[in-house]
Amino acid sequence: MKFENPNNFIKPETDNAEITKQETGDVESAKNKTEEDKNMDIIEVKNLTKRFNELIAVDHISFNVKKGEIFGFLGPNGAGKSTTINMLSTLLTPTSGEALINGFNILSQRNKVRKSIGMVFQDPSLDDRLTAEENLRFHAKLYDVPREEYKKRMEEVLNLVELWERRKNIVKTFSGGMKRRLEIARGLIHYPQVLFLDEPTLGLDPQTRAHLWDYILKLKNEENMTIFMTTHYMQEAENCDRIAVIDYGKIVVLDTPANLKKLVGGDVIKIRSQQNELLKLELEKRYRQEIKKENGVIQLKVVDGEKFLPQLFNELNTKIDSIELRKPTLDDVFLHLTGRAIRKEDASAKDMMRQRIKMRHGPR
Ligand SMILES: Nc1ncnc2c1ncn2[C@@H]1O[C@H](COP(=O)(O)OP(=O)(O)OP(=O)(O)O)[C@@H](O)[C@H]1O
Ligand SMILES: [Mg+2]
Repeated sequence: MKFENPNNFIKPETDNAEITKQETGDVESAKNKTEEDKNMDIIEVKNLTKRFNELIAVDHISFNVKKGEIFGFLGPNGAGKSTTINMLSTLLTPTSGEALINGFNILSQRNKVRKSIGMVFQDPSLDDRLTAEENLRFHAKLYDVPREEYKKRMEEVLNLVELWERRKNIVKTFSGGMKRRLEIARGLIHYPQVLFLDEPTLGLDPQTRAHLWDYILKLKNEENMTIFMTTHYMQEAENCDRIAVIDYGKIVVLDTPANLKKLVGGDVIKIRSQQNELLKLELEKRYRQEIKKENGVIQLKVVDGEKFLPQLFNELNTKIDSIELRKPTLDDVFLHLTGRAIRKEDASAKDMMRQRIKMRHGPR
């Protein structure tokens, strides 16, 4: 942690006009910064807390994110994901705790934080009466991106999300996936160091979701962008370099998807055989572990299924009919850690309806 003088954190932003003037040239310097040490912690959070009256929505969370990382916040509805993103992006004032984004303090250096980040909100926020290009231009002006710079950048970001050909079209005519891609492009127009994506694929169908992920991974690879995203889709959390599992405002665990799955206790191998009693005995003797038999199917747990299977084929004497390897999922991880499934019911249909209603009524 390289928090400066703690007093800095509570120092109010007294002279906004002055700060804005100082920061006008920041687009250039932000670009140059991408060359800096890739190992730097671009997000540093310490004991960040948000209370809404009696409710502690975010409860003393601490973590760091490295430059160029895709960092995921995974948790059920109401876990505190959006509240965290809103505090880190300066939209919401924390009750206590501190955070630095790109080295800038989220309370005392708000303007510098805002110039360092791009934001894609959970709720759609485009003006769908304007064209794609107009939406982007408006945003570029807000961020003082110089005209020449902006033209080049607009082409870059619209090409990145494959919307360059549609730039003259009114956003109302776009599909849900196209709108989401345009919001990502808009978030990138001022060369941010960090892109915050709050449920970027909420309500999109699985194909569009997968497609959107192609762009997110491209951003990481081509622009060395740091991405902080929230999701409650387990499958897409798999794409993150590291995941913080958040529940009731607290980080339950933070690690790579692969390490998280190891917490569950390894892979499950299921074997079918005409001689399953014999097989069970052989496995128990050979691997010295209790072997389960469920509905005639033999089950054993191993640390690394891919490595274990060839060994098993070489060593086994009993004839087998079929074999199945099941890797633990992040659903299993959440269940293992909290004793609950991440969602009681499959909420994707509900999410889609919620999203459609918002799209119909437009941004608020
Ligand atoms: N402005 C607010 N006033 C009062 N309570 C709030 C406010 N914003 C959020 N909350 C509460 O804080 C908790 C965390 O909300 P948050 O929106 O951060 O959850 P989330 O993890 O983003 O959930 P979702 O997956 O539904 O988007 C919830 O209980 C929510 O009702
Ligand atoms: Mg949310």
